[in-house]
Amino acid sequence: MNRRQFLAAAALSGLASACGSASASDPTTFRTELRVPPLLDPKVDKDGTRRFTLTMRRGLSEFLPGRPVETWGFNGPLLGPTIRAARGDEIRMTVTNRLDEVSTVHWHGMRLPAKMDGGPHQPIEPGATWNPHWTIDQPAATSWYHPHPHGQTARHVYRGLAGMFIVDDDRGEAGLPSRYGVDDIPLILQDKNLAEDGSPTGDPLKGTFGILGDHMLVNGTHRGFLNVGTERVRFRILNGSNARMYHLTFADGRSFHVVGGDAGLLAAPVEVERVSLTPGERVEVVVAFTAGEQVLLRTVSGSDDIDEGDFDLLKIVAAPRLTASPRLPGRLAGAPAPIVVPSNATVRRFRLNGHDAINGKEMDMSRIDEVVPAGAVEIWEVENTVYPHNFHIHEVAFQVIDVDGQKPAGYASGHKDTVYVPSKSTVRLAVQFGRFTDPGTPYMYHCHILRHEDSGMMGQFVIVPPGTANQVPRTIAAHHL
Ligand code: C2O
Ligand code: CU
Ligand code: CU
Repeated sequence: MNRRQFLAAAALSGLASACGSASASDPTTFRTELRVPPLLDPKVDKDGTRRFTLTMRRGLSEFLPGRPVETWGFNGPLLGPTIRAARGDEIRMTVTNRLDEVSTVHWHGMRLPAKMDGGPHQPIEPGATWNPHWTIDQPAATSWYHPHPHGQTARHVYRGLAGMFIVDDDRGEAGLPSRYGVDDIPLILQDKNLAEDGSPTGDPLKGTFGILGDHMLVNGTHRGFLNVGTERVRFRILNGSNARMYHLTFADGRSFHVVGGDAGLLAAPVEVERVSLTPGERVEVVVAFTAGEQVLLRTVSGSDDIDEGDFDLLKIVAAPRLTASPRLPGRLAGAPAPIVVPSNATVRRFRLNGHDAINGKEMDMSRIDEVVPAGAVEIWEVENTVYPHNFHIHEVAFQVIDVDGQKPAGYASGHKDTVYVPSKSTVRLAVQFGRFTDPGTPYMYHCHILRHEDSGMMGQFVIVPPGTANQVPRTIAAHHL
């Protein structure tokens, strides 16, 4: 091939691939209005306690228009309502399982006693109701909730069970858009493989990563559009996928500001053109729009197996006239203080092995792997050998100290609870533990690629009164689901 033939061939193949993805990138195919999960109204008791009711149930959803298929959801056929509560609120949940099998509901990102956590040790039998209660005492953040029955989490989430849990804190979020559904919009990103009849297919426990879907859903909507009417919009973005990692950008390459991560606001907005999110992670961004424009939010391929493929996710359509928004503040007053690591901090090491073990051990519900004194700040070092993974710790907030000695990206430097651990790398975390002690009830840490979590890449820790770690039994009675 000479140079001209080569260029011609290259142009042709470029054209071919552009044609191949034409339906995905043609904005006119984004015709379904984005579903925004409703806010869940609590019943407020005389003493101010807020009671929220969630029911896990089956129902019918249309991922492809006109093709209803069975899905699972909370209070509806798919996903769940958004729970919104404020720091200081007393919360009581009534969670009823109307499925045919046992499940659990875990409050991912919430700081609460282990018995209220909703992990594999708090099963809800079919027909049964679970009533966890706690006081919200943590900074403003975007959390979420999802099932956590050991070995079945991937399937239950893939069926549709997940919802957002927003924590407000009037210690200051001034200047950030916060009118839910107007200029404060949740975006739950999930990918599914859809059969011709519109039903999700694939075994979430097969292959190295389980599900890597070819249909991108936002809040359960495939190829949706969202009308916005304000100059600035805050998006609370949750990666609720089983395995996929997203690298989010706008089709026109515009920059936007990240204002928060998993566990709280950043000290100051960070301007970016792209953010990456692994399963379970959240990011809050503020995006500016000009009147009358349209832009696509998309994910682009990276260099890992879990982020293959360029996909358009959502079309955003700005109204011909936009309502003024407050200026983005230079500092975010509600940001949690940096985590200070004492010089004598305990260092614990976790090695992610293959896709089903940590430190050479598969998850065992009756084994306590780590015993942590209440209120401790520790360094957790997570080393990865082969496949890409991430690492989530229940109950805590952490900050990434470094990834192979490099500081994390500015937007990922705030308080978090889930972090990407690229293959062949070591991530060091400054972990701040809570003060609820319970030597008999563990919290979990695990890879949030659900296929890995379910096959045993998970461990258990308890939080105990300082000075008592040696007396704590390392085995507990645990029924296996
Ligand atoms: Cu999102 Cu152990 O959980
Ligand atoms: Cu969690
Ligand atoms: Cu993993």
